Amino acid sequence: MGKLMEYSKFVLIIIFIPLFIILFRHTRLRTIEKHVELFTEQTTSKRDSYFSTYLEEINKTRLLCGQLCNTSRKGTPGIFFDKITATINCEALFQNEYVDSSHGLAHAPRKIPSILLNDYTMNGIIKVHTAYFNQPYLGSTARIPIWTKSLLKEYVARAKEGKLFGVYGISETNALRDGLQHAPGVKGGRVLVIGSEKPWVEACLLEIGAKSIVTLEYGRIKSEHEQITTMVPSEYRRTYLDNTLGLFDAVVSFSSIEHSGLGRYGDALNPWADLIVVARAWCVTKTNGSLVLGVLYDINRDYITFNAHRCYGKKRYPYLTTNWIQHYLGKGVQRVHVFTK
Ligand SMILES: *[C@@H]1O[C@H](CO)[C@@H](O)[C@H](O)[C@H]1NC(C)=O
Ligand SMILES: *[C@@H]1O[C@H](CO)[C@@H](O)[C@H](O)[C@H]1NC(C)=O
Ligand SMILES: *[C@@H]1O[C@H](CO)[C@@H](O)[C@H](O)[C@H]1NC(C)=O
Repeated sequence: MGKLMEYSKFVLIIIFIPLFIILFRHTRLRTIEKHVELFTEQTTSKRDSYFSTYLEEINKTRLLCGQLCNTSRKGTPGIFFDKITATINCEALFQNEYVDSSHGLAHAPRKIPSILLNDYTMNGIIKVHTAYFNQPYLGSTARIPIWTKSLLKEYVARAKEGKLFGVYGISETNALRDGLQHAPGVKGGRVLVIGSEKPWVEACLLEIGAKSIVTLEYGRIKSEHEQITTMVPSEYRRTYLDNTLGLFDAVVSFSSIEHSGLGRYGDALNPWADLIVVARAWCVTKTNGSLVLGVLYDINRDYITFNAHRCYGKKRYPYLTTNWIQHYLGKGVQRVHVFTK
C-alpha cells in the first residue's frame, strides 16, 4: 500500500509538473502577446486621434503667439547672448488654455511627431537626444502638499546658514540666493514663483526679504505661511484676464520651464510652451522689475533631450527671454540668469 502511494506520487510529479509548466508558460506567453498587441493598438490609435485633435490647437497657438513663436527672427547682440524683441499679445497668451492643458494619453509620446520636428528644433538647428519619462503630474489627483510655517522657518534658517539642500543641492540653492541678491524688486517686493515642488525657492525669497510670494504650480498646494499664496494655471489665467492678478516686482523660476511642452509631466505637446510661459511672466512684471531664471544651460550647446528637458544656449535662450533686458550672469549648473523689464 505504502509503496503504491509512493509510486503514484512519483508518476504525478514526473508527468504533471512538466505538463503544468508547459501549459502555464503557453498561456502566460499568450497573455503577454495579447497585452502587447492591445497596448500598441490602443496607443497608436489614441496617438493618431490625439495629434489630429491637437494639431489644430497647435496651429491656433502659433497664430496667437505671433512674432514670439517665430524663432527665425534675428536678434541684436546682448551681453550674454543675442537679444530678441517681439510684439507680445498678453491678452491672447492668457486666453490660450492649450499651454496649460494635459495630453490626456495613457503614456506621454515617446518621439517628437515629425510634423512638429521643425518647430521643436528651430528648423533643425537644435539637436535632439532621447531620454523617456512618463510622470503624469498634470491632471493627477495626488495628495495636496501642505507648506507649514514651521517647515518654512526651518528652510529659511538653513538658507541663512548657506546649507539649504532644496531640491538640487546646496550649491544650486546658493546660486539662486546669489542671483536673488542681484534682482531688482525682490527685496520688499511681491514675487511670482513659477514651478515649485518644495518651498525652497520661497524660503530663499523670504530670507532675502520678499514681502509676499505667489507660487504658480500645476497641482494644488496648501500654504499655511501668511506671506505665501498658491495658484494653479486656471486661476492665473482667470485673474489676469479679469484684472485682479496685479503686477509683480519680480518673477523666479528654477528648473521648471525647460520641461514645458514636452509631455513628460502630462502636459500637452507644445513646441513653444517654454517661450509662452516666460512671455506671460513678462506680461505680469512691473517696469524695472526682474526675472530670475535657472534652467539647464550650455552656451555652446543647445539641445532637446526628448521628453526629459531642453538645454538652453546661444540659439534658444534669446527667444526664451524675448523682450527681457540681460542684467546679471550668476552661478550654478542650471546657471542663474537675471533679467529686467
Ligand atoms: C496646421 O497647419 C499646418 C501648416 O500650416 C497645416 O498643414 C495643417 O493642415 C494645419 N492643421 C490643422 C488641423 O489645422
Ligand atoms: C518669421 O520671421 C522671419 C524673419 O523675420 C520671416 O521671414 C518669416 O516670414 C516669419 N515667419 C512667419 C510665419 O511669420
Ligand atoms: C525705471 O528705472 C529708471 C531708471 O532707474 C527710472 O528712470 C524710471 O522712472 C523707472 N520706471 C518706473 C516705472 O519705475
